[in-house]
Amino acid sequence: MTGQDPLLSVEAVTAGYGDATVLFDASFEVRPGEIVAIVGANGAGKTTLLSTVVGLVRPKAGRIVFRGRDLAHRPAHTRTEEGLALVPEGGRLFPFMTVEENLMLGAYAPRVRADLGRRYEEVTEIFPVLRERRAQEAGKLSGGERQMCAIARALMSRPTLLMLDEPSVGLSPLMVGRVFETVERLARSEGLTVVLVEQNVTEALEVADRAYVLDHGHVVRGGSAAALLADPEIQQTYMGV
Ligand SMILES: Nc1ncnc2c1ncn2[C@@H]1O[C@H](COP(=O)(O)OP(=O)(O)OP(=O)(O)O)[C@@H](O)[C@H]1O
Ligand SMILES: [Mg+2]
Repeated sequence: MTGQDPLLSVEAVTAGYGDATVLFDASFEVRPGEIVAIVGANGAGKTTLLSTVVGLVRPKAGRIVFRGRDLAHRPAHTRTEEGLALVPEGGRLFPFMTVEENLMLGAYAPRVRADLGRRYEEVTEIFPVLRERRAQEAGKLSGGERQMCAIARALMSRPTLLMLDEPSVGLSPLMVGRVFETVERLARSEGLTVVLVEQNVTEALEVADRAYVLDHGHVVRGGSAAALLADPEIQQTYMGV
């Protein structure tokens, strides 16, 4: 694989729930080291798209190729081992478990389990606040800390591709800025590749390299984040300009 090959390529995926189709022929790709934003309104199909990539929703048609391999027939549970990690909507931490226990749960991939202590040190170095709160129940963290903890848990598996589902939901503008800065730092200095799903379109486009717009299950636009940010139609529809 050369640097030019996509790390992830979602090719004409149609997917949904039962008889309901939610994604229609959706395609996008992510190259190594990029931050790619996927933006769209409530119900556009953003979470479904991520669920399809991690194997929780099975595509009815299309292909998902990660590191040159078709994921179609590989079970969902092997995807962490292959280097995919998802920070789900709302973080989904275990509120009555401590920060440290939540982080350890992110490290069930055998590849990491062997070296758990070192990975814990590395990850909490990125989020010093989590080290301070390690013995605190996750349910007692602030919204921003909780989101950091969810990102940290995903990082425990040493992923190649980190996917975040609306990490800014419920956070103050200040905390949104911090979370996005962290995401940017991870991509720029840790070589992580990122897919950022957001309704917070302006901020997402500001940190992303490229972006796609999902509308009623269709990928209707794609391009450099800067170009989409400057596009009057995008501004009108998604940024309330
Ligand atoms: N488990 C499910 N079973 C049936 N339908 C579902 C399920 N999850 C989502 N849907 C439907 O699929 C469509 C897309 O939902 P999805 O959660 O992917 O949108 P989204 O873009 O993530 O929205 P939001 O921004 O509100 O999180 C919606 O019409 C939703 O009702
Ligand atoms: Mg969603």
